[in-house]
Amino acid sequence: MASLLNRQGQRIFGSHGLIARSDDSFDKENLIKHSGSDCLKVVVFGNIAASASEPELQCFFTHDNAHYHARKDDRNMTTTQGFYDDLAEHYHLIFEDWSRSIERQAGILGPLLERYTGLSALRLLDCSCGIGTQALGLAQRGHTVVASDLSRASVARAQREARRLGVEVQFHVADMRELNSVPAEGFDVVLAADNALPHLLSEVDLSRAFEQMGSKLRRGGTLAATVRDYDQLIQTRPAMQPPAFFGAAGQRRIVHQVWDWDGTEYDLHLYISFETAVGWVYKHYISRYRALLRAEISASLERAGFTGVEWLEPQATSFYQPIVVARKEPS
Ligand SMILES: C[S@@+](CC[C@H](N)C(=O)[O-])C[C@H]1O[C@@H](n2cnc3c(N)ncnc32)[C@H](O)[C@@H]1O
Repeated sequence: MASLLNRQGQRIFGSHGLIARSDDSFDKENLIKHSGSDCLKVVVFGNIAASASEPELQCFFTHDNAHYHARKDDRNMTTTQGFYDDLAEHYHLIFEDWSRSIERQAGILGPLLERYTGLSALRLLDCSCGIGTQALGLAQRGHTVVASDLSRASVARAQREARRLGVEVQFHVADMRELNSVPAEGFDVVLAADNALPHLLSEVDLSRAFEQMGSKLRRGGTLAATVRDYDQLIQTRPAMQPPAFFGAAGQRRIVHQVWDWDGTEYDLHLYISFETAVGWVYKHYISRYRALLRAEISASLERAGFTGVEWLEPQATSFYQPIVVARKEPS
């Protein structure tokens, strides 16, 4: 796609979907020329005087940085990567207490995977580790964990957190559709937790990811993924996720999501609002998801050579999302 440059010649709209700083100044004509009618949505901050009368552009104003949503044909890996790169330093804030979530999730996923595999010491690859919510806790439980993610900034943060906690995890930057850059293989478990799969917007991408995960498993190894319950959500296509309100007086924060549906896909707008000494400020992040149904995931797993596909419900596991488990054919 075309790049959009600011007046300093820096690229502000490109493979990431884009970001600019509040002190950037742009040529509005340039913005419109390059974003054009393919541009679904432009979120404008600061000093850009884009007009609501421009038919191709939808504009939102705030006091802070500039964010432009990617063009329709660029909502793939790089957009997702940009979303999580931008979010990496704030990701823990979407949890009430991230440390407790690390512990709680490992306390559920650990025993579940140990029971399922019959092994007390697992070799596990977390292929969408983010900042390490599952990888760190599973390593603290004594498992041998290798962790990878598309987002370089998230992996860097996860590495930092692992050092802080004194846990041994080997990290890599890798797209789950292409896991060759993760040198190890023969894992007992490959994990993709907390709704990473719905970022894969096509069946081709999903089955490619399952094939790649399969290539990293030993024979008889287990694939486990946790996904939002889209079989339920698609029935009502909710416009938002209710706000969560955290923190003590003076340092409160509100986390909420707005979902803009487009058939079976949606743009997720994540807002984190912070109470500061000078009032409330907020951060806004946008990413694209598809409402991935269980039947689609199960069929894709089977096509990729997995057997014994099983869905474990939140009521049975106490995990906050349904978990799908499947085995790589023993031989
Ligand atoms: C909701 S986050 C969950 C991260 C982590 N599992 C956690 O719970 O903190 C989803 C993660 O999936 C990663 N992801 C999305 N698409 C990916 C892909 N194609 N390959 C690898 N990681 C991907 C994102 O970068 C992000 O870190």
